[in-house]
Amino acid sequence: MQGKEFPAHRGRMEYVCLGCGARRPGDSLLYTCPDCGSVLLLEDLDFSELKKTPGTEWRRIFDERAATPHTALRGIFRFYEMLAPMLEEEDIVCLGEGQTPIVEASPSLRAATGVDFAYKNDGQNPSASFKDRGMACAFSYLKWLCRRNRWDEVLTVCASTGDTSAAAAMYAAYVGAPLKSVVLLPHGKVTPQQLSQPLGSGATVLELPGVFDDCMKVVELLAEKYRVALLNSKNSWRILGQESYAYEVAQWYNWNVTGQCVFVPVGNAGNITAVMSGFLKMLDLGIITDLPRVFGVQSEHADPVWRYYDAPKENRQWKPVTVQPSVAQAAMIGNPVSFPRVKRLAERFIEAGGERAFQVVRVTEQQIMDAMIQANRHGHIACTQGGECLAGLLNARSLGLFGEGEHAVLDATAHSLKFSGFQNMYFTDGFPPEYGVTPDKRLANKPELLLPESARRGVDVATFARLGADAVVKRLDLQAK
Ligand code: F0G
Repeated sequence: MQGKEFPAHRGRMEYVCLGCGARRPGDSLLYTCPDCGSVLLLEDLDFSELKKTPGTEWRRIFDERAATPHTALRGIFRFYEMLAPMLEEEDIVCLGEGQTPIVEASPSLRAATGVDFAYKNDGQNPSASFKDRGMACAFSYLKWLCRRNRWDEVLTVCASTGDTSAAAAMYAAYVGAPLKSVVLLPHGKVTPQQLSQPLGSGATVLELPGVFDDCMKVVELLAEKYRVALLNSKNSWRILGQESYAYEVAQWYNWNVTGQCVFVPVGNAGNITAVMSGFLKMLDLGIITDLPRVFGVQSEHADPVWRYYDAPKENRQWKPVTVQPSVAQAAMIGNPVSFPRVKRLAERFIEAGGERAFQVVRVTEQQIMDAMIQANRHGHIACTQGGECLAGLLNARSLGLFGEGEHAVLDATAHSLKFSGFQNMYFTDGFPPEYGVTPDKRLANKPELLLPESARRGVDVATFARLGADAVVKRLDLQAK
């Protein structure tokens, strides 16, 4: 098998229900089990065929594809056989997603925090969040479906805290007919930057009062009763695409993740599902020899998954929570639809990697903001959810859950620019009381206007340059050479 050619393996994809175990063919779009209503995961019935190729060979193939001339294999689909191996090359949509860098914490940030870690900058995806990984797979699957069924119009819908809608609208706009994108947002609960994205992509942007959980219920009803394609992570094809995050972490560290701790912010819980699933698949194929440890992180203001795992094993009961305003707004979800998937995969993860292989930690809003501001002052580009991961790592260390000789990879799930409003609130001490964040005033940063607007009027450029330079020299107390 040549790494630079389009892959020969074709699998047979099947939905597996996590409630009743029923199986259905993957050639139609399903979100929940028609028998019992539970969420689904996808499996390749021919996955065992992949085991005939040794793990070392898979590593070589995936490494070689990093330099492939095939556009279709440049992004997340360089892991084609592990994702949706019934797609043809013509189906694959690649907008430059994946291949995001892992940037070690700056030496001074490492010294300041006393922990050894790196950020994986998933904000460097095309719509500036990790959602593009899942959308690349979901839209490639939609193209496959449209081709087979000759559909002439497909309405894609999603509820969103901002990033899913940005990604869905962008991919739909790129693919074009027969796809049309509609996004449903909780009014006032996505950032202006996130809101500008589906608007710019030409999607129909609908808003409702309430929070994400309310909008999610609405799109679930729509997907049940009407002809629409749901693009939330209930759509299992998105989970497959997001597994690429795990493959890339392993590849970055030369396929050795022993001693690595992977921190993931948890909202609707699709991402942590995908990350665990990806590592398990690699272990199964011998591509990695050990699992890393996976840590989910939640804010005190939206912590149902943390609550579940914090209870003693014998008393664990799943209960959604009512969310409070959170700076990790993209993960501000009280009733994550993928919780049953997390439960199932955490069981498998612990079975294969031991009790410490899966953990959930909780952080305060204050810790999230302090961590994000601190990271970015050291040259990183963490969003509030990326700040949440660093806060989670620091708490894990305090709790003795993360120790000597371990290294953490934190998911900076979106670009810091999408959440600059929270940075601004920190710098101006402008948080409404319900967030419970008091900024460290020493970190406040603001622009300084050195001359009044009138100073530019009526003078030539050379005169203005001297005036401006004088003002800078005075402000910085510069010494002549
Ligand atoms: N970080 C960011 C930047 C997100 O946008 C999200 C989820 C999460 C973390 C949590 O990931 O839901 O897979 O557990 N955003 C979704 C959205 C809900 O609509 O954009 P999760």
